[in-house]
Amino acid sequence: MSRAALPAALLLLLQLLVLLGALRRAGAAAGHSAEDAPHSHERGPGQSHWSYEDRQEWASRYPDCGGTMQSPIGIDTAETVFSPQLRPIQLAGYSLPSKETLKLKNNGHTVVLELPESLAITSGYAQQYRAVQLHLHWGSLAGPGSEHTVNNHRFPAEIHVVHYNTKYDNIEEAMVHPDGLAVLGAFLQVGPRENPYYRQILEHLYKIQGEDEEVFVPGFNIAGLLPANLNLYFRYNGSLTTPPCYQTVKWTVFNQTVQLSQDQMSVLVTTLRGDDNSPLQNNFRELQKLHGRHVLASFQTTLTWVKELPPPGGDSSSEAGAEKHTSSFQAGDVLAVLFGVLFAITALAFLLYVHKHRNQNTRLDSPTKSKVIYTAATTDENAV
Ligand SMILES: *[C@@H]1O[C@H](CO)[C@@H](O)[C@H](O)[C@H]1NC(C)=O
Ligand SMILES: *[C@@H]1O[C@H](CO)[C@@H](O)[C@H](O)[C@H]1NC(C)=O
Repeated sequence: MSRAALPAALLLLLQLLVLLGALRRAGAAAGHSAEDAPHSHERGPGQSHWSYEDRQEWASRYPDCGGTMQSPIGIDTAETVFSPQLRPIQLAGYSLPSKETLKLKNNGHTVVLELPESLAITSGYAQQYRAVQLHLHWGSLAGPGSEHTVNNHRFPAEIHVVHYNTKYDNIEEAMVHPDGLAVLGAFLQVGPRENPYYRQILEHLYKIQGEDEEVFVPGFNIAGLLPANLNLYFRYNGSLTTPPCYQTVKWTVFNQTVQLSQDQMSVLVTTLRGDDNSPLQNNFRELQKLHGRHVLASFQTTLTWVKELPPPGGDSSSEAGAEKHTSSFQAGDVLAVLFGVLFAITALAFLLYVHKHRNQNTRLDSPTKSKVIYTAATTDENAV
C-alpha cells in the first residue's frame, strides 16, 4: 500500500514544483523592469537590459513602450481640465519609526527606496492603493532631469512614489491591469535650505555608488519627501516611464514642488554610477505624445477662462492597448503550463523507468528515491 503510494505522491510534488518554476519564469519573461518592479531583481536572459541611450529601441523589445498612452508627458496648464471631483491626496502610514529599516538600492537606472505595504493612499483616487517603492529621476550638473515638464519647463529632478491597487495581490499582478498602479510624482528644485527628509536618503548614496549595491536605512516620515500641499495636482492616464512601459499608471503630478539645497542636488546627480561604471545621470525619458489624452487638474489653473469639458470616454485606443497586454500575458501563461505538462510527462516516464528498474534489482529505501527525483528537477532548472 505505502510502497505504491509513495512514488505517486512524490511525482505529484515534482509536477507541482515544475509548474511553479515554469510559471515563475513566465512572469520574469513578461519583463519586469528592475526600477518599477522592486521584487523582481533577477536579470533574466537579456530581459531587463535596457539603457537610456537606447531609448529608441525600447519598443522593439517591450511593445508597450510604443503605445499611445505613454509617460512622461509635457503638461500644458492652459490645456488642463479643471475637475473639482479630484479630492486632496491623503496618505496613511507614511511616518515610519527609525527602528523599521528600509532597503535603499542602486539598480543601475536609479536609486530605489523599498517601502513597506503599510503605506497607503486613502483619498484622491477612486480606489485604494498601497506603496511599494519610490525612486528619483535627475539630470546632471549641466542640466535638469525631471521626466514630466510643466509649460515647457523641465525641473532639476523628480520623485516617483509607486503604489498598486489593493484589489490585486501584489505589484506584479497589478502592473498588467489598466487600473493597477498609482504613481505620485513631484518636482525637486533648489532652495535655500537643506531638506531633512531627503537627507535620510542622500547621506547613504556614497555607500551604494556601484550598480546593484544596497544598504539598509532607518525609517523616517516618507511624506516629507513630497510637497506640503497635496491638494493641487494634475491627473492623467499613462505608463511606467521605463521598460516594460505598461500603460497601467494613473498619474498624480503635484503642482507644488519640493526644495533641496544646492549641495543636496549635487550629491543626487553626481554620486551614483550605472551600467559599465559610467556616471548615473540624465535618467529621464523623453516626452511622449498625448494621442488625444486629457490632463485633469484638481484646481483652476487660470481664473479667467471657463473651459468646456471634453466628451467623456473618447479614447478607445487605451482599451486596445490594455487588452493587447493582457492577452500577451495569458499567452505566456499557456506556454508555461504547456512546458510544465510536457516536462511532467517526461519525468513520469523517467520515474516509471527508475521505479521498474529498481524493483527488478535491489529494493532501495525511500530516501534514495527522493534523491533521484531531486536530481531530475535540478537538471530541468539548468536546462530551461
Ligand atoms: C483614465 O481611464 C479611465 C478608464 O478608461 C477613464 O474612466 C478615466 O476618465 C481616465 N482618466 C483621465 C484622467 O483621462
Ligand atoms: C502650478 O500651477 C500654476 C498655475 O497654473 C502654473 O503656473 C505652474 O507652472 C504650475 N507648477 C507646477 C510645478 O505644476
